Amino acid sequence: MSSHYDVVGVKVLQQNGLNVEVVVNTLIANAAVEFTAYYYFTNLRMHCTGLEGEGIKGVIEDARLEDLSHFEACLQRIYELGGSLPNDAMDFIKMSGCEFLQLPPVKTDLKAILDKCLKAEQGAIVNWNKLCQLTQGKDPVTYDLAKDILAEEIEHEAWFLELIHGRPSGHMRRKYSGESPHSGKHSRALER
Ligand SMILES: [Fe+2]
Ligand SMILES: [Fe+2]
Repeated sequence: MSSHYDVVGVKVLQQNGLNVEVVVNTLIANAAVEFTAYYYFTNLRMHCTGLEGEGIKGVIEDARLEDLSHFEACLQRIYELGGSLPNDAMDFIKMSGCEFLQLPPVKTDLKAILDKCLKAEQGAIVNWNKLCQLTQGKDPVTYDLAKDILAEEIEHEAWFLELIHGRPSGHMRRKYSGESPHSGKHSRALER
């Protein structure tokens, strides 16, 4: 897209050697994953029934609201870089590849639900780590965003590893759901 004005905030990134198109497309794809995971985690959390499910609900809720926060955190940077969200919401959802987060065959199977949550967090780690690698040393603003979200995805993975395998996570749950201790500053539209 050519325009009659300079966007120095993008130009300097190109001078730094950044492939802006790849970065913005990766950011949009990551935003699609966060948005869709937020939806699917909503449904998964609802199906954590019974005595055991009650405790798991809270953990999924913490991860769910932080995914919403991660989606929000991407928006400003997408537009600063000259990108935009797909006009058709269906295109956005499809881009995420999150169909695996649909309910398991036995809808309230807690183990199957937790396995899905763990897989989602591990995928998110790969996604945000990729954006860190693309931007490190070239695009400090996107890097700062990606590394803050990555820090939370690593925590989310640790919660589910602890629940499924007993591997200690080394940290506590959030003070409140949606806290986003690392990335909260990037999603200021959400009240905390
Ligand atoms: Fe996330
Ligand atoms: Fe997460």
